[in-house]
Amino acid sequence: MNRILVSGGAGFIASELAEKLSHNEANRIVVVDNLQTGLRENVPQGKHDNVHFIKCDVNSWRDISSVFFAYRFNYVFHYAATVGVQRTIDNPVMVLNDINGIRNILDLSKNTGVKRVYFSSSSEVYGEPVEIPQNELTTPLNSKLPYAIVKNIGEAYLRSYWQEFGLEYTVFRFFNTYGARQSPDFVISKFLRAAELGEDITVYGEGLQTRTFCYIDDNVDACLAAFYENQVVNDVVNIGSNKEMTIIELAQKIVEITGSSSRIVHLPPLEEGDMTRRMPDNSKMMQLLGRDLLPLEDGIRRLVEARSGILG
Ligand SMILES: NC(=O)c1ccc[n+]([C@@H]2O[C@H](COP(=O)([O-])OP(=O)(O)OC[C@H]3O[C@@H](n4cnc5c(N)ncnc54)[C@H](O)[C@@H]3O)[C@@H](O)[C@H]2O)c1
Repeated sequence: MNRILVSGGAGFIASELAEKLSHNEANRIVVVDNLQTGLRENVPQGKHDNVHFIKCDVNSWRDISSVFFAYRFNYVFHYAATVGVQRTIDNPVMVLNDINGIRNILDLSKNTGVKRVYFSSSSEVYGEPVEIPQNELTTPLNSKLPYAIVKNIGEAYLRSYWQEFGLEYTVFRFFNTYGARQSPDFVISKFLRAAELGEDITVYGEGLQTRTFCYIDDNVDACLAAFYENQVVNDVVNIGSNKEMTIIELAQKIVEITGSSSRIVHLPPLEEGDMTRRMPDNSKMMQLLGRDLLPLEDGIRRLVEARSGILG
């Protein structure tokens, strides 16, 4: 039996991960989350009654240590973090406090016999792009903002705990991921909502900054392949799509798919944190996944359907 801790499991990505983990009877999953941005109802029931939720702050040693002592995990997925471009820019100290959470998770993992820690890093560690596509090994990291620095420090801690204590790790560098449970302030959810209501779709600056968008199932399935097949051990993998598109193209696509009457309007550019380009070399991820990524149009249609189910 695998005893697995999933931190941040009331949030978007980790709740989907916990749900798929729960399909396997051999997994016992404990989800911890302080509900800062996550929702209690996102936590799956567990197909085999094998998911347990504990409201808990991973940045507090007192809170998280008792969970580790009670359950003796084999594997940890550490996905809890303060997220969101605007939230992380507005609350830099809160973001930096997440370093405490990373240290708590690693100290407790090394001291209680955890076999491997999986960490959700971010494409933000690459910062303003020095080369495209961004490769795990050859592209230099260029982290400047607190959120990106925390992810970079997290990666350094994982490597160091492996080097000094033999605690195994896997780093997932997530690029933009989207799906039905994503918070409404993320670009695709925001544009979809505006399009559905016929409101203006607002784009920062000229909207020529590019992003790639990865459907949630592709993210989770690649990460689970790494887990079940013992791949990417003590290593890093980019998790994202390599189909680059400008934000203005994304807005146009959403208007087209939803048949909306919304206008696309421009706001002044963000002062910081809006990288000009981002695009992974995702060849390692594609090997893990063993199938094509879901095209963005199909993913957006799935979201529209899911939302009409909720609204209708
Ligand atoms: N969504 C993306 O496109 C993306 C891209 C790059 C990296 N990531 C990373 O993936 C992970 C999951 O992000 P998400 O998009 O699902 O965001 P999310 O906000 O939906 O999930 C984060 C979860 O962590 C919880 N949390 C925050 N601080 C906590 C703490 N101190 N203790 C316990 N729980 C805490 C929140 O309540 C939330 O449920 C994060 O580490 C994020 O940095 C996401």
